[in-house]
Parts: sequence; C-alpha cells; structure tokens
Amino acid sequence: MNAMHDVIVIGGGAIGLAIARELRSDRSRSVLVVDRSGIGEGASWAAAGMLSALSEADSGGPFLELCLASQRMYRGFADGLVLETGIDCGCATNGSLHLGMPDDTPETLRARYELQRQWSPNVEFLYPDELRLVEPLLTARVHGALFFPDDLQVTPRRLVRALQESCIRRGVEIRSAARVEEVSKGVVRIATEELKAKTIIVASGAWTSELKGLDPPAPVRPRKGQILSLSTAGQPFRCMIRWDNAYFVPRPDGELVVGATSEDAGFDRSLTAAGIGILLSKAQAISSHVGSFPIKEMWSGLRPGTPDGLPIIGRSRVPGVFYATGHFRNGILLAPITASIMAALVDERNPELPIEPYSPLRF
Ligand code: FAD
Ligand code: GLY
Repeated sequence: MNAMHDVIVIGGGAIGLAIARELRSDRSRSVLVVDRSGIGEGASWAAAGMLSALSEADSGGPFLELCLASQRMYRGFADGLVLETGIDCGCATNGSLHLGMPDDTPETLRARYELQRQWSPNVEFLYPDELRLVEPLLTARVHGALFFPDDLQVTPRRLVRALQESCIRRGVEIRSAARVEEVSKGVVRIATEELKAKTIIVASGAWTSELKGLDPPAPVRPRKGQILSLSTAGQPFRCMIRWDNAYFVPRPDGELVVGATSEDAGFDRSLTAAGIGILLSKAQAISSHVGSFPIKEMWSGLRPGTPDGLPIIGRSRVPGVFYATGHFRNGILLAPITASIMAALVDERNPELPIEPYSPLRF
C-alpha cells in the first residue's frame, strides 16, 4: 500500500522544487516530488539564469508585473537558500545592457527607452561613448543601449541543487526515475503503481502535454535552446548583454555563457552546426574579442512553450489538480512567485497577483 500524501508535485525542475519547498515551509503537510529522470535535469539545468523581467518585455501589463514581482523576491529567495543549505546559487546584481537589434536606429532605441521607462523608472539610456566606458570590449556598432541596473543572474544548476537540498531538509520526499503516465482525481499513475494525494501539481515543463488524464489539456510544446559557454581570464564583461536575439551572461568565475537558439524541433536536443555556428557568430558580433576565447561547454534544453507565450498556472477541471507549467523563457525568474501563488491556491487563499491571464482554461 502506498502512503497517501497531501501533495504530489510532478516534475523536479526549478518550478516543481520551488513549489514543494514553499508548501513545506511550515512542515504541516506531506509533499512528494516525482521526476521521470534525475531531479533538475530538464530545462532548469540548461538555462542561462538571467533574471531580467524588462529586457525581454515588449509590452506592459500583468505578465510584466508578475516577472517584476518575482525579480524583486529573488535576493531574499537566494539568501534564504544559502542560509538553509549552504549552497550559493550565484545570485549577482550586475545589471543588463540591451543593445537592441542590428537595424535599430537612434529613434527606435530611444522609443524603446521611453516605453520601458513607463514600466520601470530604473532604466537608463547610455550613449555609445558611455557604453564603451561600461563595457570596453564591446565592438558591436550600436547607437546606444538601455541599461537595467536591477537585473540579476543566478547559476541555474546551483539553484536547482540548493532547492533540492532545501526540499530534503524540509522533509519533502523525492523520487527520481519515476515517470508519471496518467493523472486523475487524487491519483498519479507511475507504470503499474498508483500514488495517492489530495492535491496534485503538474510542473512537468516541456513534457506536460504527454501526461494522460489532464482536463483541460495543457498545450505545452518544447522549444529547443542551444547554448554554450566560453572560458575567459578574469571577467572581461561586467554586465549581461543582449543583442540581436543573443546574449552574454558573464559569471564571476570567468565563464561567459552565450545564448541561445529558439527552435521548434520537437523533443530533439541535438547540438547542430547551424545552431552553435549562429551563436558563435553573434557572440563575435557583440565583441570581436571573444573569437580567441576557448569553448568551455555546449549544451541544450527544452523550454516549455505555450501558444501565447504565457505560463499555465491555476486549477484544472479535475478536482485537486493544479498546473504550474509553460514558463517558456522565464521559468528561473518566475520560480519564487510561482511557488508563492501555488501555496496560496493550495491553501485556498487569494494569490498576491491576478492569475486569470494564466488560466489553464484559456485555450
Ligand atoms: P523543467 O526544468 O524542464 O522541469 C520539468 C521536470 O518535469 C523535468 O525534470 C522532467 O523530467 C519532469 N517531468 C516531465 N514529465 C514528467 C512525467 N511524466 N513524470 C515525472 N516527471 C516528469 N529562464 C529564465 O528565467 N532565465 C534564463 O536566462 C533562461 N535561459 C534559458 C536558456 C535556455 C537555453 C533554455 C532552454 C531555457 C532558459 N530559460 C530561462 C527557461 C527556463 O529554463 C524554463 O522556463 C524553466 O527551467 C522551466 O522550469 P520547469 O521546472 O517548469 O521545467
Ligand atoms: N530567457 C533566455 C532564454 O530562454 O534563452
């Protein structure tokens, strides 16, 4: 006989672990996390770790508010994890520079600045000479840049380790190599075994649409990201830098992460000549100096994409089954706020921000 749990979380990525940890904060309920592979080996393992609500935002509104709220929570979230586990997830406030697109004119950049300033007063416009003072090794020919001083980064693989360790210390039960086949009211089926829980939280990322029994279905599709890193001596770039759909995330230990492609390739995670080639060429367009840096690592991951690019957070039609999936390009950023919203839903409290835009019933 399997024990009855209060909550089963399907998926041990940043989202599932952050939720499980939050649900165990007062140690009052039993929580089990199940993952089909190893814990934290999905998209969360592959992410760059930019916590940058504004640099990917094209419009204001509730989703930007959600991202900004989560970004504001991050320092406390990361500090809490270090205190609890001793694992430092590399949370650093180095800000980000948005150089725009190659065909941007001074007017389009300025217009973007005026728009962004309505959403956050803390954005700055840097002219090319000011930009060179901040990042002397930049060689991209740009008319200026937007600077987001409040942007942070984490090292996602360390974040996931810290979350897992925190879950263990709080008494969350964790099972890896346990693939959930089907979900129904109060029951999670793994191969021939049935696990029972009052509440089931689906946090299975890019694989969510493979789960049987979900009502409504969750239209999550994998969106492949190829990504690589270079070894540098010291830290030649201070800030995270975005240009022409590519980005740099400089880690304090000298690793320079260069991301990332965004491809509709199903569950294929192979590294391709075209994917890696384009990243290397965009990296050299940002700074011709990087051409001499050795390649450290190349990898890929599957972002959980949705038809409208928004996450799926909320109750399903199956009693006791909730979704927290589809976080697409922002799941590392959104982990703290998603955990907080899910805890409110499970406790039947009102979440701190409106969640109607992310309703599972909207498709
Ligand atoms: P995952 O980490 O994929 O976890 C889902 C888990 O569910 C997996 O471990 C999987 O094994 C498990 N699972 C699936 N199906 C089942 C099943 N049937 N039974 C049991 N377990 C199951 N986000 C940012 O905020 N900032 C960034 O800078 C950033 N950069 C990125 C760069 C790249 C190249 C990629 C690919 C993504 C990036 N992202 C970034 C996005 C971010 O990685 C994702 O949004 C986030 O990791 C999603 O977390 P998750 O826990 O939902 O998914
Ligand atoms: N948010 C960065 C990425 O998804 O590549």
